[in-house]
Amino acid sequence: MIKTERYGKGDFLKTSADDYSDALRKSVTVKNGDISLTVAEYGATILSLKFKEKEMTLGYDDTEEYKKQDGYLGATVGRFANRIANGEFYLNGKRYGLYKNDGNNTLHGGKVGFNAVLWDLSVKGNAIIAEYESKDMEEGFPGNLKVKVEFSVNADGIEISYMATSDKDTVINLTNHTYFNLAGRAENIENHYLTLFADGFTPIDSGLIPTGEIKGVKGTPFDFMEPKLIGKDINAEDTQLIRAGGYDHNFVINGAGYRKFAEVYCKASGIKMQCFTDMPGVQFYSGNFLTERKGRNGETIKKRHGFCLETQFFPNSVNEPAFPSCVLRAGEVFTAKTGYKFV
Ligand code: GLA
Repeated sequence: MIKTERYGKGDFLKTSADDYSDALRKSVTVKNGDISLTVAEYGATILSLKFKEKEMTLGYDDTEEYKKQDGYLGATVGRFANRIANGEFYLNGKRYGLYKNDGNNTLHGGKVGFNAVLWDLSVKGNAIIAEYESKDMEEGFPGNLKVKVEFSVNADGIEISYMATSDKDTVINLTNHTYFNLAGRAENIENHYLTLFADGFTPIDSGLIPTGEIKGVKGTPFDFMEPKLIGKDINAEDTQLIRAGGYDHNFVINGAGYRKFAEVYCKASGIKMQCFTDMPGVQFYSGNFLTERKGRNGETIKKRHGFCLETQFFPNSVNEPAFPSCVLRAGEVFTAKTGYKFV
């Protein structure tokens, strides 16, 4: 059933009601060359990213599903993406307590993260702009935070630029949680070849919190320095893989500045995706927790039917002084950029 209720201020700007009728309510589509991108005001969520008419992401038909289901499909994640141990951190000597929504830890911003709030959408040229103001102490984080996410639609891919300012010192970690499947439909992604330009990763404890160590990938199932099938080692008898049910780890990307950090290739479709970022880390998540659910166009989404490459500060970096700093000082401007390009 199509629901017509409005969530709040703002009208949807453009709708092209072709395939995803209800999900496209309160969303914007921009097309350029081979790319078509649809972003919803709910969670600044990527509802659809098409390359040459082929859908590259997992999604649902109905906006209600995005509200009901776990998995953060396509969502913009914040104020703090990934995990914060024991739901707390200290900043300037003060303790901040957070909502624990992942065992004893906080995941993806807490109870109502940026994935579950309404963003203001607008279009500027070939870009979709999503803006949100997170109030001081929203989900326990200090500072009124103004966030702007710009999704630039290029002829061969998209670039996501994040910008944020706060009126108090705070912590920030923004990402996008799109599940890609370069086959163009929901199916197992173990047959995708992945290259990750990362010599190291951050091993996790049983709660999926980094231990603080940075471990070399060489000689481990985490070595993706050369193209390797995601499925090749995914079921190896390896404590790290067993803890996460597959890959769900932060990789320490080599180099600095805006650089290529990954390539993914699907032989069946012949499509290759190149990934770029200026962030220090990326969570490579092989969709291990995707329980069976109904996806777009009646597709069945199952475990490992999509993979995420969530660029980020390292998980729990709020509590790990040796990790790159996720602190945003009052009045400073936070920026980050991630790009996904298709060939
Ligand atoms: C991230 C986490 C995973 C999982 C998904 C959402 O990628 O690292 O463990 O929680 O989000 O299901």
